[in-house]
Amino acid sequence: MRKPLMAGNWKMNKTVGEAVAMVKALKTAVADVTDVEILVCPTYTALYAVYNEIKDSNINLGAQNLFWEAKGAFTGEISPSMVKDAGCSYVIIGHSERRQYFGETDETVNKRTKAAFGAGLIPIVCVGETLEEREKNITFQVVETQVRGGLANLTAEESAAVVIAYEPVWAIGTGKTATPQQAQEVHAFIRKIYKEIYGDAADKVRILYGGSVNPKNVSDLMKQSDIDGGLVGGASLEAESFTQLVKY
Ligand code: 13P
Repeated sequence: MRKPLMAGNWKMNKTVGEAVAMVKALKTAVADVTDVEILVCPTYTALYAVYNEIKDSNINLGAQNLFWEAKGAFTGEISPSMVKDAGCSYVIIGHSERRQYFGETDETVNKRTKAAFGAGLIPIVCVGETLEEREKNITFQVVETQVRGGLANLTAEESAAVVIAYEPVWAIGTGKTATPQQAQEVHAFIRKIYKEIYGDAADKVRILYGGSVNPKNVSDLMKQSDIDGGLVGGASLEAESFTQLVKY
């Protein structure tokens, strides 16, 4: 009932040429996949070129951020409709790197989330605790606050369509994956909180796990009942390893 989603977050990597070459190889390798939704999220500069390469394929395109205003004097920012116009159907919102380095808060996450829907994009809203928060045993409080704040005020339709990504900050880029049990515990908790807010949409919403997902650990993670896919950094950069993830 929930179609798995395997999403690659390329972060600040790849030139236009490198990005196009990657999806060219990926397109062939995953052409036979129908049971998993596939998504790549390149940098802004490569979006349109990648779109042209994958538009007739089973690979979807996403951006890594957007600004909530529609247009105007906001030097350096990209509007939701520009992201849509470049060929995107998804957008990552509130990644921990944006929270850590660029001042993203639950309030700005919520503004971006609503604006993404306004432009016809599906937001992938990221939540997750730091190592310090996990060690202080406040993981659930932190994640609950992020879910309630970042995902506030959605319509019934939006609340079922949004994607949530649980990315424990201590597992990102560290090679230290959450165990399938640790991840499942938080995913089930997120779904429970979500049910309190949005009722039955909680059964439809997809919750991705992110943090050092690789071809070796992906299948055990995907066996967990509340893990509906992955948001993958490092292992999504090469067509070969990302194909292995898509075909977990
Ligand atoms: P890694 O897969 O490189 O740990 O990155 C995870 C991530 O931040 C995806 O958004």
